[in-house]
Amino acid sequence: MKHELALFDLDGVIVDTAKYHFISWRKIAKCFNYELKTEDNQKLKGLSRADSLNQILNLANITLDPSSFKIYLEKKNQDYLNYVREITVDDILPGILEALDFLDKRRIKIALGSASKNARLILDQLEITSFFKIVVDGNQVKKSKPHPEVFLKASMEMGITSKKCVVFEDSQAGIIAAKAAGMTAVAIGDKNDFANYDFCYPNFSSINTTELEMLF
Ligand code: BG6
Ligand code: MG
Repeated sequence: MKHELALFDLDGVIVDTAKYHFISWRKIAKCFNYELKTEDNQKLKGLSRADSLNQILNLANITLDPSSFKIYLEKKNQDYLNYVREITVDDILPGILEALDFLDKRRIKIALGSASKNARLILDQLEITSFFKIVVDGNQVKKSKPHPEVFLKASMEMGITSKKCVVFEDSQAGIIAAKAAGMTAVAIGDKNDFANYDFCYPNFSSINTTELEMLF
């Protein structure tokens, strides 16, 4: 297919931090007397921290003044970091290391495109930072997924056109962002949770080297 850049989302693709985001957001939602459901969480995936809090406030029918908004963002992140600090190489999702290794050996460039402001910390804890030529995360973008900025920034910084990029994403917001950027979008998860993707696999264990050959 002649793709040159593999753009990985982090949370839910490389490591199952999505479950920790859910636990921490559920605690925040409880402060507003709202019981955050799995279906609600599915819609939060891929959104920035602030966009996620806004969604929860909408669900709970609550408005916050700007200083309380900041306090809740910080509260959520501090709780989330308690889980993240425990993450090790053993938490890398099955098939990821093999895929990174395969792409690296084939000289396919690898980059990260994540909404998270904790992305570098997590990559370091997983001991896989060196695989990534560049990391574009929530600290560097103004507009978060479903806006394509994060992926466009990565492809521009790498000097590789959108058409030659493949994005691996576990969120619908990320799939929309990848398609809006003009890239090939690979959804990771249950295909019933996604629309408008190019390919879908349940996880990276099901993406063997033949599949990767086909994608790149
Ligand atoms: C995304 C997650 O990768 O990062 C979202 O899918 C999360 O659930 C977002 O809200 C921001 O993460 P962080 O670590 O900056 O709070
Ligand atoms: Mg994700």
